[in-house]
Amino acid sequence: MDAMPYAEPYKIKMIKTIRQNTREDRIKLIKEAEYNLFALNADDIYIDLLTDSGTGAMSDKQWAAMMEGDESYAGSTSFRKMKNSINSLLGFEYVLPTHQGRAAENVLFSAILKEGHIVPGNAHFDTTKGHIEFRKAVAIDCTIKEGKDPNLNHPFKGNVDIDAFESVIKQYGSEKIPIFILTITCNSGGGQPVSLENIKAVAEVCRKHEIKLIFDAARFAENAYFIKKREDKYKNSTIREIVAQMFSYADGCTMSSKKDAIVNMGGFIGLRDAEIYRKCSTFNIIFEGYLTYGGMSGRDMAALAQGLYESTTFEYLESRIGQTEYLGKLLKERGIPVLEPFGGHAVYVNAKEFLPEMDQEHYPAQVLGVELYIEAGVRGVEIGTVLADRDPVNRKNRPPELELLRLAIPRRTYTNNHMDVVAWGLQKVMERRDKLKGLEITYEAPIMRHFTAKFKRLGN
Ligand code: F0G
Repeated sequence: MDAMPYAEPYKIKMIKTIRQNTREDRIKLIKEAEYNLFALNADDIYIDLLTDSGTGAMSDKQWAAMMEGDESYAGSTSFRKMKNSINSLLGFEYVLPTHQGRAAENVLFSAILKEGHIVPGNAHFDTTKGHIEFRKAVAIDCTIKEGKDPNLNHPFKGNVDIDAFESVIKQYGSEKIPIFILTITCNSGGGQPVSLENIKAVAEVCRKHEIKLIFDAARFAENAYFIKKREDKYKNSTIREIVAQMFSYADGCTMSSKKDAIVNMGGFIGLRDAEIYRKCSTFNIIFEGYLTYGGMSGRDMAALAQGLYESTTFEYLESRIGQTEYLGKLLKERGIPVLEPFGGHAVYVNAKEFLPEMDQEHYPAQVLGVELYIEAGVRGVEIGTVLADRDPVNRKNRPPELELLRLAIPRRTYTNNHMDVVAWGLQKVMERRDKLKGLEITYEAPIMRHFTAKFKRLGN
């Protein structure tokens, strides 16, 4: 017998009109943007899959919480609400609000990282790595080798290679390694989860060598969903039980609340250790604001508290990740090469396979992003040679192994009909892929060039 199909556990109460312009408009607009999707005006985009960060739709309960936000400078009621939700769901006693995820990294790392420190992890996110390297410390990626193979189907491609972690300890000595950063789910690895078994194994090595285990928790709820679905032992546990288990192994976390707390802006640090909390507090006050607001409005903290309860329900996660899967399957059916398994928050198109003839020096994933915009008004983001930047010494491009176009899906924002449009657009690009020309950079900033680079089409 057919099972009852799933559907969103909500109905739409407020809408925002989006506009479809014409193909001719888009050809002109992307040319004016010098082929950089970041330079487009958002209202010239029909479906925006640039990021799932801060782009989700809040619930009526979150909006109601905003109306009750307490804007007191110190001792705000909304801060206590946020702290209570973090205490009860994640188990951290100490909480510092920050204005977003990278701000949490800045505060925590200011308190504990020094020049020459080593910070192992599973493919650190760009801002995390940036904040580590900014302090002249070194980030080392210990992801399992299966995580790097785009055509390999493995349930937990975000997992840590415990042997690799132990050899880092052997090589540098644990006194040089104050923390291990575990990113759940692993964004740089394609939105891939980490299993509870692996979390536990990482924690054991950390305990043995007195290394603090810190979660980069941006998409922790999505990670918990994958544990429930893919780790047999937990198939009957609730999402909140799994979340509690996951965090029971962590000494602390940094959080970008723009993802799994489903707010448009915000972040926090969660900690167990009073001493680290005290050290972080000083930096929080300097960089972010007083301890009970740290760069956030009271109303935003109130919405964040509610968002954490909403994202840690099975019904929400099933429809959220179900939508990502829906898009992934559609693309696959149409013969578009995608990374598997699909991530929690995004589907990644393999541009090297999509445009096999194109030299990586001509930015195939960027070309794919430009053409998808022209075809359907859809914006994705390049995770390839443009993002990978130049070698700081010889200034040559350093084309990465994976040349990808990421289609990140905002939470509770688009319907599956929108996903149909995305798939249709990519198919149209596929049909004329033999005729596509590469791009050439005409301007680039010395670092983080992808945001502001300018391009021209080759052969024009
Ligand atoms: N950690 C992870 C895993 C992230 O994905 C991000 C942001 C951050 C930290 C930084 O948080 O943006 O609030 O300062 N990721 C966004 C993205 C930008 O599009 O993937 P933030």
